[in-house]
Amino acid sequence: MTGPERSSGLEGGEGGPRVPEGDTAGGSAGQGALTRSILAEIRAQGPMPFVRFMELALYHPRLGYYCRRREEGNGSPVGWRGDFFTSPSLGPLFGTTLARFFCQLWREWRKPRPFWLIEAGPGPGWLACDVLRGMADCEKAAVRATRLGLVEAGPQPQAQARVAEAARQVGLGQEPVWARSLGRLAKAWGWDSGGPAPTAVLYANELLDAFPVHRVRRGRRGLEEAYVDAVPLGRAGRRTDGHPHPFRWRWGPPSTPALEAYLAWQGIRLRLWQEAEINLAALAWLQELDQVLGQGKACALLIDYGYLARDLVDPTRRRGTLLAYYRHQASEDVLADPGGRDLTAHVDFSALMRKAQDLGWQVREFTSQGRFLVQQGIVEEAQRMAAGAGQSEEERRATAQALRQLVEPAGLGQTFRVLALQKG
Ligand SMILES: C[S@@+](CC[C@H](N)C(=O)[O-])C[C@H]1O[C@@H](n2cnc3c(N)ncnc32)[C@H](O)[C@@H]1O
Repeated sequence: MTGPERSSGLEGGEGGPRVPEGDTAGGSAGQGALTRSILAEIRAQGPMPFVRFMELALYHPRLGYYCRRREEGNGSPVGWRGDFFTSPSLGPLFGTTLARFFCQLWREWRKPRPFWLIEAGPGPGWLACDVLRGMADCEKAAVRATRLGLVEAGPQPQAQARVAEAARQVGLGQEPVWARSLGRLAKAWGWDSGGPAPTAVLYANELLDAFPVHRVRRGRRGLEEAYVDAVPLGRAGRRTDGHPHPFRWRWGPPSTPALEAYLAWQGIRLRLWQEAEINLAALAWLQELDQVLGQGKACALLIDYGYLARDLVDPTRRRGTLLAYYRHQASEDVLADPGGRDLTAHVDFSALMRKAQDLGWQVREFTSQGRFLVQQGIVEEAQRMAAGAGQSEEERRATAQALRQLVEPAGLGQTFRVLALQKG
């Protein structure tokens, strides 16, 4: 990443630096194709805001990290054979504990039928399977009332098959429905053609940290945004400055006034040269959530790593939170190998709560993951699992280990937060 030297505006752009077609950041031919495609866009339109680079790197329809077809392993970048772990990848305990919360809501809401249940960003689908099995254990009638929808930007066939199998096992009333956006799911369920407003629960684990973010910093003359440019070539057609890949950072004026407006709205004042990410997509997603679920009775359970705005701009945090993950190694070089590595940034929960409240939602709960899971009875759930017939010693040990990881502050218990929003 670049240091804090200031640049007054963007140079280059039209007819800008050229990089040879075959020059890729390594990785598979597919990822090389994405590098070439991004370079072509930079050549045609000038340096791109980082948010656009991240969008292509993760969600290019064929080559993006989350959208490319994965035949190998479990068809997902999550887990031992992937690039990073998530709570559901530690075993069923996380999902079966969340299931207790969903059953509690179902009872609290006087056992609605149908009970619409939506997972946003299910990735490999393990969480949905564990939730269904957990609900079947705690409240069979709730499962029979449940209609399950999965909203996934890059649906993988293995995940769809996995969830379909779990749905069959627990006797879910109807086949799970997959869609690429909440709006499309609402359409598939006929919610857009009148009828009674739905009673629904939406849950998402590590969804919002995977949204493309703008990267900004405070310069001497005001807010600046990070752009991605191509590395210039020397006379021999080679990159001259020892870059490991064909991209470099450029700082320029904000690509949209929404960035300055966001900071003002949040009351955030960055220090000179302090960097931060702004996740405008998360706010737009909340707006869509409200359009789809806001007319009925709804709860949205959002679990992610993140902070409150004041922590995000703490003076000790000068470089923001952006990271790339590949095979369980984190790297700050988020421009290398687009499409080959996960990119992620911490979530600003202050902004989420404020936006949700502006849309008429209430904060039912905002707490650490560890505390939330203990409240829902994860300890009892772990004991129930361990006492289950046919559990091997190894499985019991795995459950105990998952419990510690999910709850303890040194594991995921403190860095992950749970935000439960409610409306209606
Ligand atoms: C970090 S993974 C988490 C996967 C899973 N929830 C877990 O905990 O293991 C993020 C997932 O969110 C999906 N995603 C990102 N943006 C999305 C959106 N706007 N709508 C639906 N899914 C999205 C990605 O494709 C990816 O599968």
